Amino acid sequence: MRSKYVLIVAALTGSLLLACSGNKQDDTTGSVPEGDTKFKQYYIQGEQLYAKHCSNCHQKNGTGLGLLFPPLNVSDYMEKNRPEVLCLMRHGKQGELIVNGKSFNKAMPPIPTLTDLEIAEIATYIYNTWSHHQGIVDVREATQILSKCQ
Ligand code: HEC
Repeated sequence: MRSKYVLIVAALTGSLLLACSGNKQDDTTGSVPEGDTKFKQYYIQGEQLYAKHCSNCHQKNGTGLGLLFPPLNVSDYMEKNRPEVLCLMRHGKQGELIVNGKSFNKAMPPIPTLTDLEIAEIATYIYNTWSHHQGIVDVREATQILSKCQ
């Protein structure tokens, strides 16, 4: 009698735990969103490159830092200026820039060593994590954009 009760409780707890882990959202860092193999490869590479080249300033969770470093996790600037965002990774950015209605004006240093593929991978990561769901930024698209940076 008693052992049956314990079994039922154990089964219930188990399925509850399963239900919780199954509901985990993709918006936080750590989980790769759904997509084909190429998309996932880009995303995983991009996440590592982001940690190496960008997170010092923009933070691992993309929040930025006060009025020094603008946020990426939620950024109307990113949504509106995709070509510009790819270019600024390679060439840096100076002058005033408005993100979500706030003014930022501190230079972002260029990272000229990033290849077209690496920029495509970082873009795929930042455009598909946090609040963004824009799909893969293919290396061909990146090359086309990067050849036209001003
Ligand atoms: C040394 C600090 C630093 C590093 C490293 C850095 N950034 Fe920035 N980033 C800035 C600053 C400062 C600005 C604002 C530039 C301005 O005011 O003109 C900026 C602006 C941006 C913007 C546009 C504004 C926004 O919030 O949407 C994006 C996108 C961005 N950075 C992405 C990146 C990515 C991706 C990397 C890595 C490849 C990176 N940054 C590396 C400091 C940095």
